Amino acid sequence: MSPGLELRVAEVFQESPQAISIVFDVPDSGVEHFQYLPGQFLTLRVPSERDGSVARCYSLSSSPHTEDTLAVTVKRTEGGYASNWLCDNIESGMILAVLPPAGHFTPRDLDRDMVLFAAGSGITPIMSIIKSALAEGSGHITLFYANQDSENVIFGPDLAHYAKQYSERLDIQSWLESEQGLPTADVVKYLCSAHRNSEFFVCGPPPFMDLVVRSAESVNVTHDRIHREVFQSLHGNPFEVKERAKSASAEDSAQAIVYLNGEKIEIAWPRDLGLLDALLNEDYSPPYSCKEGSCGACVCRLLQGDVAMLANDILVAADIAEGERLACQALPLTDEVTVTFDI
Ligand SMILES: Cc1cc2nc3c(=O)[nH]c(=O)nc-3n(C[C@H](O)[C@H](O)[C@H](O)COP(=O)(O)OP(=O)(O)OC[C@H]3O[C@@H](n4cnc5c(N)ncnc54)[C@H](O)[C@@H]3O)c2cc1C
Ligand code: FES
Repeated sequence: MSPGLELRVAEVFQESPQAISIVFDVPDSGVEHFQYLPGQFLTLRVPSERDGSVARCYSLSSSPHTEDTLAVTVKRTEGGYASNWLCDNIESGMILAVLPPAGHFTPRDLDRDMVLFAAGSGITPIMSIIKSALAEGSGHITLFYANQDSENVIFGPDLAHYAKQYSERLDIQSWLESEQGLPTADVVKYLCSAHRNSEFFVCGPPPFMDLVVRSAESVNVTHDRIHREVFQSLHGNPFEVKERAKSASAEDSAQAIVYLNGEKIEIAWPRDLGLLDALLNEDYSPPYSCKEGSCGACVCRLLQGDVAMLANDILVAADIAEGERLACQALPLTDEVTVTFDI
């Protein structure tokens, strides 16, 4: 059995010469499964003649507060497999297997002032946050949006419309590399300084994100207010059926106490098995997507005991210091470990 659910493609829009939006219908039976927060992503199973399928994450560009359908926006990656397959082949009526929405790139409070930094396809989760905050929140939003050239601006007309409709609450600063070169440290630092009390959201290529994070830190924006979304391809395939691990003896197991969706769970945790798989094998439903330490969907917080992480492309030192761990990569180091997913 595949862990994904199937969704039907309702519509496909060309957003720019290199990017499309794919809109999915959500059947009544899937409404609960596909509830999401602005800024979260879906993992799609993309057919491949070579490997059967590959899995890729795409942020939701739709807003749970303004739309009933789900939409993701995919930009072609030069030489990339899945993005080009989707841009070349996807059409309405097709069925794709999809994992439930996941991710932590989400505002805790839509009423907060926010400063959003997006470059290229990094606008996708930011768009969902903007639409949601304008519809449901009351804070002020500043968007810095960098693109290579005017032709490749995704959601340009939509953003212009919102800037006009919400002129008191939305301020957009556009940057075109074809005319201005790469975003400069001075401009980014000025914005960070002017909005140092806001919540920061950053999504774009790694050098752009590094520039924003460094600039924000240099004006003393605290780590817990800087939210980053890293776009990268999965190496593994979370849609593949994995054999359930054999049950381990008591000596080979630690004791895990896990808070998940408001429930307290106690399981024997085989010492050579990631916490995520240990929970899945007991038929619990922790959040996950990549299972390889690169998406952040499975983040939990360590409350007691200690774990080792086999891989980690997501958490920075400050996250780890605050107790965050990737459940898919966590092995127990102590006999008893308590974690919570309810963070
Ligand atoms: C949380 C999250 C959200 C995301 N949201 C979005 C989104 O909203 N929109 C979006 O467009 N993307 C998004 N992405 C990125 C997306 O998941 C894919 O990484 C992207 O579409 C590229 O996938 P691909 O299969 O086309 O490219 P890939 O085939 O994975 O290739 C990626 C790059 O690696 C190179 N490459 C491939 N194989 C090799 C190799 N063997 N050796 C060396 N180089 C190689 C390719 O030439 C290419 O430049 C997101 C990623 C994450 C993790
Ligand atoms: S499931 Fe992606 S980091 Fe754990």
